[in-house]
Amino acid sequence: MTIFSPSTSHKVANNITDLIGNTDLLRINSLSNLTGCEILLKCEQQNPGGSIKDRAALQLVKDAIENGHLKSGMTIVEGTAGNTGIGLALVAKALGFNMLAVMPKGQAIEKEQMIALYNAQLLLVDACPFADPKHFYHTAKQLGEQHADYWWADQFENTSNCKAHYLNTGPEIWQQTQGKIDVLVSVVGTGGTIAGNSRYLSEQNPQLQTWLVDPYGSGIYHYLKTGQYQASGSSFTEGIGIMRCVENFRQAKIDKAISLPDQDLVTISRELSQRDGILLGSSSALNVAGALYAAAKMGPGKTIVTFCCDLAERSYSKLYNAAFLKEKQLRTDHETLASMFERYQAEPDNAVITVREVK
Ligand SMILES: Cc1ncc(COP(=O)(O)O)c(C=O)c1O
Repeated sequence: MTIFSPSTSHKVANNITDLIGNTDLLRINSLSNLTGCEILLKCEQQNPGGSIKDRAALQLVKDAIENGHLKSGMTIVEGTAGNTGIGLALVAKALGFNMLAVMPKGQAIEKEQMIALYNAQLLLVDACPFADPKHFYHTAKQLGEQHADYWWADQFENTSNCKAHYLNTGPEIWQQTQGKIDVLVSVVGTGGTIAGNSRYLSEQNPQLQTWLVDPYGSGIYHYLKTGQYQASGSSFTEGIGIMRCVENFRQAKIDKAISLPDQDLVTISRELSQRDGILLGSSSALNVAGALYAAAKMGPGKTIVTFCCDLAERSYSKLYNAAFLKEKQLRTDHETLASMFERYQAEPDNAVITVREVK
């Protein structure tokens, strides 16, 4: 048995941004064996900034340089739950810009610390509803408008975000699966991931189904069902869920939508760490729970791809913190993978929304 096979490639990357993308695709053995589907995980935590948002950060910056909005010595400003801030901080330093991240208070401390480690400035604002002018999004926008040498990245409305996935992530998945992909499952933050990938992959295979998985506390599921943003329950997940329609999300081609509680992602996170040696952050665990759900509803034989969005370390203070979970009344031994799968199989069909068009 070959235990270690050294790389035969002698290619040297000349800039850390060259390491963004080209991530591996991993079979999740526990789920694949249980369901009879191939459940595959796109390992986006392998990006140098530790998350899928490195891809969006690089494309946003590349396009802004190309169209003349971002010039040498300027400051990139962005409102972020953390991962885009980390990605932009990395890209900014690597390409010669300054970075100012505006973050709502209460996100995992790990992400604030990472932004600081890249020597980016960090402005923490109170978490508040979007309608409040002090919301992190509006604060970043105002800063961009007030300073001539600032460039506001605007990951929600700037479609360079979903372009990163249309040009790169989608084609990688298509090649890695050799065109055998039936279902794509994704959470939504800005919608960049689901939009770019669903667009590209469904152009290659019009039969492809894209499933959106929404945490409780986000309004997307309800919006796709009724046309109105309304949340039920709450979630401790970060970087995902939204209560308004943004341009990146509008580009998505979605077929089905489901909404899952935090308990399910807690269960999945512990099952995969024990059975597969795969550690997931909270949004990634929700993605994987969504993939299990899609397998339960579609039956065996399908190839289902989802994303490991970021490093599990970024969920240490919440998902992997016993005191935090206890406070939220969430259990790590709530049910087994097999019973979760059976429960999903038994869920009424109307729990899955069929989506016609995102407006
Ligand atoms: C941890 C995590 N998962 C998922 C997402 C969602 O990605 P997207 O913005 O492409 O919808 C984000 C976005 O910031 C994130 O931080």
